[in-house]
Amino acid sequence: MTRSLLILYGSETGNAQDCAETVFRIARRLGCDARLSAMDRYPFIRIVDENLVVFVASTTGQGAVPANMKAPCSSTILILEILVLVAPQQPPRRPAACLEIRHLWPRRLQLYKLEQRLSQLGAQSILPRGEGDDQHPHGLAVFDHSDSRVDGGFVPWLDKLKAFIHPDTPIPDALPPDAILPPIHSISVHSDSIMGLHSDSIMGLQSDSIMGLHSDSIMGLHSLDSHSMEGSIPVVVVQNMRITAKDHWQDVRHIIFKSHPLDFDPGDVAVIYPLNPPPDVSLFCQLQRYNATTMVSVSSYPHPIPLHHLIACHLDIHSIPRRSFFNLASYFTTNPTHQQKLVQLSSPENSDDLYDYTSRPRRTILEVLADFPDIRIPLEYLLDVIPPLHPRHFSIANSTEKTEIHLAAAIVRYKTILWKERWGVCSRYLDSLIIGTCHTTRLTLGTTISIDIEKSWVKLPDSKTPMVLIGPGTGIAPMRSLIQSRSQNPAAETILFFGCRNKEKDFLFRDEWKYHNVVLFPAFSRDQKNKEYVQHVITRQHQLIRDIVRRGAWEFGENATGRSSLSVGYSRAC
Ligand SMILES: Cc1cc2nc3c(=O)[nH]c(=O)nc-3n(C[C@H](O)[C@H](O)[C@H](O)COP(=O)(O)OP(=O)(O)OC[C@H]3O[C@@H](n4cnc5c(N)ncnc54)[C@H](O)[C@@H]3O)c2cc1C
Ligand SMILES: Cc1cc2nc3c(=O)[nH]c(=O)nc-3n(C[C@H](O)[C@H](O)[C@H](O)COP(=O)(O)O)c2cc1C
Repeated sequence: MTRSLLILYGSETGNAQDCAETVFRIARRLGCDARLSAMDRYPFIRIVDENLVVFVASTTGQGAVPANMKAPCSSTILILEILVLVAPQQPPRRPAACLEIRHLWPRRLQLYKLEQRLSQLGAQSILPRGEGDDQHPHGLAVFDHSDSRVDGGFVPWLDKLKAFIHPDTPIPDALPPDAILPPIHSISVHSDSIMGLHSDSIMGLQSDSIMGLHSDSIMGLHSLDSHSMEGSIPVVVVQNMRITAKDHWQDVRHIIFKSHPLDFDPGDVAVIYPLNPPPDVSLFCQLQRYNATTMVSVSSYPHPIPLHHLIACHLDIHSIPRRSFFNLASYFTTNPTHQQKLVQLSSPENSDDLYDYTSRPRRTILEVLADFPDIRIPLEYLLDVIPPLHPRHFSIANSTEKTEIHLAAAIVRYKTILWKERWGVCSRYLDSLIIGTCHTTRLTLGTTISIDIEKSWVKLPDSKTPMVLIGPGTGIAPMRSLIQSRSQNPAAETILFFGCRNKEKDFLFRDEWKYHNVVLFPAFSRDQKNKEYVQHVITRQHQLIRDIVRRGAWEFGENATGRSSLSVGYSRAC
């Protein structure tokens, strides 16, 4: 009997989505009637009718749920509760399995909570919750059962799931290994431009090697959904200035965007959508023999767009390829030796080889495609093979002038172990922003920028509450916003601990602090023989801190990359 299986995922940067897609493909290969959906796209009201559900989710933002998982963790669970309460009898128990992807940080587990709720609602767990560590040197799909750290990894968990779906041993594949499943994500060539594309893409693969897929098996899923242009704010770059010394190791920019008046508060975050540089987009098209001007239709755009625009804005061609990339790419090469190599790299047994080839030298998808020049990704599989390009977050560094957005952005630029120069994707994009260009839309490559604002969930105390702020490096950004805001009206004491290497080289916004209502304690780690960090200065000021905390102070902390942002990184001082 064909088993029905629903896979629901919550993913912020794509790791959990990649795992969910792997589960989906495996289930289809095993002959299951599998369906796949982001959690916020699934009508949870229907979950009581499901037979077997797999939840895959990541943890993000200090233990928070990814954006596309928020709905089931709050309101939809309430809907479920109401459903269950009014039901005349207990619903039959539904099997469910959960997999959580995260760094093994001591944070609360979101799936644990969801699992508990589902259990209360009558779901029966068929497998212990799996936990995958995306920072493990061997990647998520770790294989070594003898290593206790990775015992709950993806591959062993997947084996157990397979055994549940198909108790026969060995598990018979419903598909021969050389047959490929149809693509998950939809992309089509606009009829006017069919002539320009390489032949494989138009013809697709041989129809008898593709397993039929029900049209409703992928619900509202599209890799470009995270890049929907709805609500994006057009802005003009009016400043892109280096604020660290020329000879300092790190290039930190004070970037200012002008816009119409915006609604934001200290702790809010600007969401930037980077573009891949035009030469890299051209190289990608050249390697794939794509005609860059081919018009393609994808679901998140109301009208067809040129292929080069899709690649520039939406495909992460500079990411380090995951195992699933090699697995899919192995179907698309005509070179048997390369095909064998790609299959090897995609196999969990060879995770050392994969690590040495990809993660260690930080080799990108674009470079792998150059190494394997016979790979030709059919256009209809493009969104399956190349992961989506995710936006980057930056803490907003101002608050008083509502027609401006200020950022303190550290440019990521380094040399790999092979001495190749690397830029961070967004760093290179920010570096390329030219002052004065009127950025009104994202549709013209290279001259456009639009941003979004993500509200902080932290409810800041009123201005009468004293505050202790700790913000080393670009972690100063949200503190600057908060201090500006508190300087506008009479406010209680604000103490700021700021850390950097040298007073003369990377003391960010050094000339501003004297104009604000703030007591500043800087720590310059390398200006004297003995290194001195923020924690040393804090220890010296413990009396002052104890005193201010007794008076009800709040403490906000940031790490040096600014990454945690006020919205996720605060604690009540006690
Ligand atoms: C809520 C939030 C707020 C943030 N606020 C700020 C902010 O105010 N200011 C700010 O500058 N950033 C901030 N960040 C970080 C920012 O979003 C980006 O992650 C950062 O700018 C890098 O993006 P990128 O695209 O340039 O680099 P990517 O292309 O994403 O590359 C970054 C990756 O490069 C690798 N890497 C970097 N350096 C090296 C090295 N030396 N050797 C080997 N590998 C290396 C690391 O794996 C790293 O993960 C914030 C992040 C979050 C989540
Ligand atoms: C901003 C940010 C915050 C994170 N916070 C946590 C956390 O609180 N706990 C945790 O276990 N992992 C945390 N992680 C690690 C993610 O869970 C991990 O990178 C995961 O693979 C992301 O999966 P995704 O790509 O599906 O979102 C965080 C990652 C980021 C980028």
